[in-house]
Amino acid sequence: MKRILVTGANGQIGVELTRILRDSYGRDNVIATDIKELPEDMDGPFRILDVRDANMVHEAMERTRADTIIHMAGILSAKGEEYPQLAWEINIQGIYNVLEVARIKEASVFFPSSIATFGPTTPARNTPQDTVQRPTSIYGISKVTGELLCDYYHIKYGVDVRGLRFPGLISHKALPGGGTTDYAVHIYYDAVKHGAYTCPISAGSYMDMMYMPDALDAVLQIMEADPRKFVHWNAFNTSAMSFDPEGIAAEIRRHIPDFEMRYEVNPVLQRIADSWPDSLDCTAAREEWGFNPRYDLTAMTDDMLKRLREKLTGE
Ligand SMILES: NC(=O)c1ccc[n+]([C@@H]2O[C@H](COP(=O)([O-])OP(=O)(O)OC[C@H]3O[C@@H](n4cnc5c(N)ncnc54)[C@H](O)[C@@H]3O)[C@@H](O)[C@H]2O)c1
Repeated sequence: MKRILVTGANGQIGVELTRILRDSYGRDNVIATDIKELPEDMDGPFRILDVRDANMVHEAMERTRADTIIHMAGILSAKGEEYPQLAWEINIQGIYNVLEVARIKEASVFFPSSIATFGPTTPARNTPQDTVQRPTSIYGISKVTGELLCDYYHIKYGVDVRGLRFPGLISHKALPGGGTTDYAVHIYYDAVKHGAYTCPISAGSYMDMMYMPDALDAVLQIMEADPRKFVHWNAFNTSAMSFDPEGIAAEIRRHIPDFEMRYEVNPVLQRIADSWPDSLDCTAAREEWGFNPRYDLTAMTDDMLKRLREKLTGE
């Protein structure tokens, strides 16, 4: 990677990823794009780009002479269930346009897939890398289609397209954009601000999660990995921990002993959560490119609460 175009750079992952890419590859070599303007404190090249518009994608690559596209634009699970047609349009037309321009320009691609590509018939515990993928959310359906399209462009045209299946990502910087695992971010904010949280996901619903610094490291690591060890190219299972709402609440109580947890289960989110794995097997990612996340639930909770107290209360 030398010149990198990031789509969806204004999102939960995009904002942080753009910053660390600029630190590693130089400010002017990382071109941020999104349909929305970036936060004012983000300095560096930026273009408005709607990934549904093939001409705009081609023009952006022509003008910027990027050799890599990090494709973060998308609609997530909860928002996707509200607007299924829009989710299909953005998630499918977006990756198709990106792969087409990569084929023509011989560029590399990063594609973020998700645990949402699994469904109720997938083995829920220690979910294998290669297994049944019959998701029931439009988001999962669009992401599994994206994974297959990435495989196809690699096999048919030799496009260097790499990718990860992210679990829920937790960060103290940008807020999440409408996913089923968002509760695991909001709970920390409400713990610091109010000492209590009303959770939309039921106790006992285990899902995979990862702290944002590990997710960002994983993107850089797979994009820079020597592909000679690759058996898979995209859609690597990645996860650093698996917990249910009671597990995260118990960790928060180590710091805030009277933290109070209430439940108002959202049936749409709960149906999605129930269809996702409890815990992923990440052996392929470890063996093929050295995936090695640093944060478990305890280390993440220590850091999240410390950072959020600084940010929200100035302590
Ligand atoms: N955050 C997670 O927990 C998670 C987990 C698994 C996979 N992912 C995937 O990672 C990617 C980034 O996720 P995120 O959490 O940053 O999402 P987000 O919703 O926070 O950000 C998505 C960004 O895409 C932009 N966007 C939407 N439509 C667009 C369009 N037509 N053209 C260009 N930009 C458009 C939005 O303005 C937004 O800035 C997504 O593809 C998502 O599916 C995220």
